Amino acid sequence: MTYSIALVPGDGIGPDVVHEAVEVLDAIGDRFGHTFNYVELIAGGCAIDQTGEPLPPETLEAAKECDAVLLGAVGGPKWETLPGNLRPERALLGLRAGLGVYANLRPAALMPQLKAACPIKDEVLIASNHEGKAAFDLLIVRELTGGIYFGERGRSADGNSAHDTETYSKPEIERVLRAGYIAARGRRKQLCVVDKANVLESSRLWREVAAVVAKDYPDVATSYLYVDNCAMQLIRAPGQFDVIVTSNLFGDILSYEASVLTGSIGMLASASMGDPASGTGKKATMGLYEPIHGSAPDIAGKDLANPLATILSAAMLLRHSFALEKEAKTIEKAVDAVLDAGYRTKDIASRGDAAAAAKEKIVGTKEMGQRVLEALSQA
Ligand code: IPM
Ligand code: MG
Repeated sequence: MTYSIALVPGDGIGPDVVHEAVEVLDAIGDRFGHTFNYVELIAGGCAIDQTGEPLPPETLEAAKECDAVLLGAVGGPKWETLPGNLRPERALLGLRAGLGVYANLRPAALMPQLKAACPIKDEVLIASNHEGKAAFDLLIVRELTGGIYFGERGRSADGNSAHDTETYSKPEIERVLRAGYIAARGRRKQLCVVDKANVLESSRLWREVAAVVAKDYPDVATSYLYVDNCAMQLIRAPGQFDVIVTSNLFGDILSYEASVLTGSIGMLASASMGDPASGTGKKATMGLYEPIHGSAPDIAGKDLANPLATILSAAMLLRHSFALEKEAKTIEKAVDAVLDAGYRTKDIASRGDAAAAAKEKIVGTKEMGQRVLEALSQA
């Protein structure tokens, strides 16, 4: 099969990590007989420098023509003083909305190799784990194209007050909930709707819609939690969660909290999906894949960034957009093997655990990528 993938390396460490992920994709293509054609596009700060706007219309148009999009990261201090609508982050929001990828899947699981980098005590992890292990494995499904990120905002005439609005329609809530239920069916069949229904009217609508949609998934247990409580539960008993479905803003915050529990934000991949392609005659489901970390301008180009989140995002791309499960698993196994062998970028090195640290080899971006390629041939 031949597929086209839009590459949006972006700013900071974006190009460093996307480069490694492309090498991995090429190796997978060779091994399994697929051709991936890449279309490199600009967005974010680099696009502002070259064209004056964060998301040139040609970038969005070209991305839409591809089967999937792999993005590095956007932003940096250089563009931080620009007005809101001209900041690099606008490119992300524009791509998400323009591609219609409303369901953002952010898995957060503790890999046994990285346990020493997890800030939570074993006994705390064990207490809430369904198998009594010092581990957790959860998936945050974040609504990505609505809510306060896209609501009406502005300043009063005198500039002394400002507002941002959270608006959700029933169809917007329903479709992301369905994405959550479908994901839950492939996991432990538990779904928790996280909101602030004790205060916000939009959250009360989420609960109303969830009560109806839940009836279509009787095999999945549905629960509800206020977001403040969820933030607390994530660090006191992360094992209780399987799938969390929540709004754009709450998902942004909770997924960063969850990432710390996995040891490093440098490990977390994400997939943003629109409506499934099944039944449409298309060979691929459009998706936007990105590590959840930022552009880390301080370490850009220094061979320090952890490429694993982007490599794992490429695995998600193969799974969710192209339905290439075997290929995706092969990448995940290779990453697992590299961690088993003790290779670590600085961000995932064991801290304060001398015994664990002694077994580790600290490597840079390029060597980490190379090690994954080597492990691929054996995975
Ligand atoms: C994320 C990021 C973005 C977001 C920023 C860069 C706009 O924090 O993907 O989590 O808030 O969605
Ligand atoms: Mg965020």
